[in-house]
Amino acid sequence: MIISLKRMLAQANKKNYAVGAYNINNMEFVQAVVSASEKMNSPAIISTTEGAIRYAGMPYLKTLVYTAAAHTKIPITFHLDHGRDFTVIKQAIKAGYSSIMYDGSHLPFKENVRNTAKVVRWAHKKGVSVEGELGTIGGAEDLVSSREIIYTDPDTAKEFVEKTGVDALAIAIGTSHGAYKFSSTPTLDIARLKTIKKLTKLPLVLHGASEVPQYLVRQANRYGATLGKARGVPDAQIRQAVKHGINKVNEDTDLRLAFLASTRKTLVKQPSVFDPRKILGPARDYVQKIVEDRIKLLGSKGKA
Ligand code: G3H
Ligand code: 13P
Ligand code: ZN
Repeated sequence: MIISLKRMLAQANKKNYAVGAYNINNMEFVQAVVSASEKMNSPAIISTTEGAIRYAGMPYLKTLVYTAAAHTKIPITFHLDHGRDFTVIKQAIKAGYSSIMYDGSHLPFKENVRNTAKVVRWAHKKGVSVEGELGTIGGAEDLVSSREIIYTDPDTAKEFVEKTGVDALAIAIGTSHGAYKFSSTPTLDIARLKTIKKLTKLPLVLHGASEVPQYLVRQANRYGATLGKARGVPDAQIRQAVKHGINKVNEDTDLRLAFLASTRKTLVKQPSVFDPRKILGPARDYVQKIVEDRIKLLGSKGKA
C-alpha cells in the first residue's frame, strides 16, 4: 500500500521512532529496500531525486515502486527527494507520488516560504504530503555543489511551518550529504533539534545521515576504489537525533557504498563473470543488509 508521508510519520512522531528514506535509481535497490523492510516488518519511504528521474524516467520509477507496493504488506511512501523544478513536482503529483520534498533551502526565506506554500497547495489537493527544508545541509548533491552548513534557526522554523503548512520539515543540525561529511568526529546540535521540535511539534527530517560504514570503505578500497577518508554520522548520534524528534532519516550514500563494495569485489574476484545477474545479485544483498541495519537503528522494526 502506498501512503502519504503525513500518515507514515504520524505514528513515528507519537511513538518516537524514525522511518528510513532510501534513495533508489533502479530495480535492484527497490527490491533491496522492500526485502529488508519485509524481513524487519518495517514501513519504508522510497525516494527518487530529480537526478534519479533524469536517469531512469518517472514512468519506470513509478512502475517499480507501485509494483513493489502491490506485492507487499508493508506500507510504502513514494517520495520526491529535493524537488526544485516545479514542472517535475507537478508531474510527480500527477504520476502518483505520495510525498514531495520542496527544497527551497538555497532561497531567501520569503521566497522559500512562497514556493513551499505553493507546492503545499498543489499537493494537499491530491492528498500528497510535503516536506520543506530550512537551513542548509552541507556536502555534495547532484544539483547543488559543495556548500556550507547553515544551522536551522528554531524561531524561523516555527514561522516557516505556520506560513507554509508543510507536513514535515528537514532541518540542518550539522549533517552533510555524500561520503566525505566530516574531517573529525561530528557532534550534531541536539539542543537545537529539541528546541525546533518543541516549537513545531512536526515530524522532523535528517538528511545527509549516512553512516559511511568503514568496512564498506575498506572493502571498496581493497578492490580498487580510492575513497580516501570517507566518513559519516556515527550510529550514536543518529540514535540521539531520533530520541529527540527526528522521524525521517535519509540514506543514499551508504546504499551506494554497499553496491560499490560488492560489485568491485565480484569483478576482481571473478574476472570471468559476464552475467549481470551474478554482479547485481550479490550487490542487491549487500544493499539489503545496510537497510536492515538502519531499520534496527531507527526503531522502525515491527512498526509496519
Ligand atoms: O540528497 C540526495 C542524494 O544523496 C543525491 O542524489 O545524485 O540522485 O541527486 P542524486
Ligand atoms: P547521505 O548522502 O548521507 O546518504 O544523505 C542522503 C540524503 O540526504 C538524501 O536526501
Ligand atoms: Zn538530502
